[in-house]
Amino acid sequence: LNVCSKQLVDVHGVPIFSCIAEEWSQVESFEARPDDLLISTYPKSGTTWISEIVDLIYNNGDVEKCKRDAIFNRVPFMELTLCGFRSGVELLNNMKSPRLIKTHLPVQLLPSSFWKNDCKMIYMARNAKDVAVSYYYFYQMAKLHPEPGTWEEFLDKFMAGKVSFGSWYDHVKGWWEKRKDYRIFYLLYEDMKENPKCEIQKLLKFLEKDMPEEIVDKILYHCSFDVMKQNPSANYTTMENNLMDHSVSPFMRKGITGDWKNQFTVAQYERFEEDYVKKMKGSTLQFQSEI
Ligand code: PPS
Repeated sequence: LNVCSKQLVDVHGVPIFSCIAEEWSQVESFEARPDDLLISTYPKSGTTWISEIVDLIYNNGDVEKCKRDAIFNRVPFMELTLCGFRSGVELLNNMKSPRLIKTHLPVQLLPSSFWKNDCKMIYMARNAKDVAVSYYYFYQMAKLHPEPGTWEEFLDKFMAGKVSFGSWYDHVKGWWEKRKDYRIFYLLYEDMKENPKCEIQKLLKFLEKDMPEEIVDKILYHCSFDVMKQNPSANYTTMENNLMDHSVSPFMRKGITGDWKNQFTVAQYERFEEDYVKKMKGSTLQFQSEI
């Protein structure tokens, strides 16, 4: 398998892997179905975690059934194409309904068929500093990415939106605004860490699904970080070696809130916070303070 990307290309103003950009027309014309459930996130915000939870909900907590395949096949990454080798669109076109679909696209680039079909969507957001740190390690282990440079250099790129899938700030704000008009369940990683049961109950309501408490507890256990880290169908260890190198940094790295404190210098923190206020000005979206 040829790892073709390594560079980012401008797609309607958003930097995206070149192999996705080359097949962009396929993504744009993707045909959503009314009973699709879209799982949308900025990278490193808890996509895999919420995907595993939703697949378990769809399978009534049957843990064995959810080991039928790797998470990236159960919940295909819609826009991902690897030089025509594996295309999320093709995988999805051949999948029977109801489908679970992963995307990292900013709201303005989502194929229009999702809006036309009024599909339900889950958007999961995570605080910017932890995302930046998680992304820095992911850039090193997932070989599609360009070289991240030093942490300081990467942080600059992150703040400038010059990383894959663009600006975190625009992404979280864009989806936050859209939730007013469409069926979007907007969820925060930090809330899931703090009170997963409460968040799953809200999610079940959104999905119009009743579930006995024992099954909810079973799902919570199965989707805890330590259990998911050991689960080959959820931890990405079955992905081709030339795409991800877990010896550089495991996909399931730490799974905590506040890891940025181990990475940011005081100067970086201050610069980041000052810039953050400017970029988030005017938005009602708020993350837990003192993370
Ligand atoms: S990706 O590549 O964008 O789809 O990655 P994504 O799944 O969104 O994010 C990966 C980070 O989520 C953490 N993770 C979890 N945290 C808590 N609980 C569970 N069950 C869980 N599963 C994955 C994962 O460890 C990455 O975060 P970091 O901070 O790097 O550990």
